[in-house]
Amino acid sequence: MVPYRHAVITGGAGFIGSHLAERLLAGGTRVTVLDDLSTGRRANLQAFLARGGRFVQGDAADPRLVRELFAEADAVVHLAAAVGVRLVVERAAECIERNLEPTRVVLFEAARRGLPVVLASSSEVYGRAAGARFHEEDDLVLGPPSRPRWAYACSKLLDEFLALALVRERGLRAVVVRLFNTVGPRQSGRWGMVLPRFIEQARAGGPLTVYGDGTQSRCFTWVGDVVRGLEALLSCEAAWGKVVNLGSDEEVTIRELAERVRARLNPAAPIAYVPYAEAYGPGFDDMPRRRPDLRRARELIGWQPTLDLEAIIDALARTPPGGPLPGGA
Ligand SMILES: NC(=O)c1ccc[n+]([C@@H]2O[C@H](COP(=O)([O-])OP(=O)(O)OC[C@H]3O[C@@H](n4cnc5c(N)ncnc54)[C@H](O)[C@@H]3O)[C@@H](O)[C@H]2O)c1
Repeated sequence: MVPYRHAVITGGAGFIGSHLAERLLAGGTRVTVLDDLSTGRRANLQAFLARGGRFVQGDAADPRLVRELFAEADAVVHLAAAVGVRLVVERAAECIERNLEPTRVVLFEAARRGLPVVLASSSEVYGRAAGARFHEEDDLVLGPPSRPRWAYACSKLLDEFLALALVRERGLRAVVVRLFNTVGPRQSGRWGMVLPRFIEQARAGGPLTVYGDGTQSRCFTWVGDVVRGLEALLSCEAAWGKVVNLGSDEEVTIRELAERVRARLNPAAPIAYVPYAEAYGPGFDDMPRRRPDLRRARELIGWQPTLDLEAIIDALARTPPGGPLPGGA
């Protein structure tokens, strides 16, 4: 394990970043959060700031600011990105720019300074790849550029290529983490994340809106497990130069997810099925399944999720939307 004195987390006022910031701080690392509050919220940092964390509002694509903050740091976690299917579909050009430019600035500066980096990528890069479980070395199958949702996967994939190229060519110490659907307190349903949306809808009396016929399946990971994995990877030299999946492999169809949320929160709430075209416009593509192969994460850091879906739904049902993680996980 490599101990770090001072980590910079880009996107640290967001959902995952705010939990990670609290965790690193609690472990004795100084933490600076850099966030432009585009989808993140200052309120997410309440506990972090109360415990002495530092927040800088700014753009991770600003080279001067990044240079200044990295001068004081010895580790970087780069989470800043435009996230959410709806955001990508509605504002693809902005998403492409916001997923490429900050990553370019952050990775080149980290390479120049010799700082280790954890780079957040996404299971979206697997696209429509076939196979029961997605392995990091699998071929990838993305849809055509006429379908804007693939812009997110493509921009994340280019981030990955850049990180691994800098590892080979400039000695950057970076690990690329492909996160699968992550859930927990502080996640917003606004940009298309399904579980917080179902929970909000059930609390409001319904309907819970399932896009398509609901047979598409996903795996949901508790954010406390994800930030534990990110912290471990930051200190794992054997992971540098590698892509690593982080996510649960417990699969559930979206129809069943809606039924389980309804049963837990409001059995009287109706479930409505909305065609993709109505939800996202014509020509929207979805993937039928998305399930990770977790062998690499297990081998490198001994990681596996601790909360199953039942426990996740239960924890979310008991937690106020902006709250801390139950039990401090
Ligand atoms: N939540 C998931 O299920 C999931 C799945 C796969 C990948 N990821 C990846 O994990 C990371 C964090 O996602 P999240 O779910 O916490 O989303 P989020 O939207 O809550 O967090 C992203 C944060 O980045 C900030 N940001 C965006 N552009 C910025 C910029 N140019 N400069 C500074 N800050 C900027 C936003 O304000 C926000 O606080 C992202 O890179 C995302 O692609 C998340």
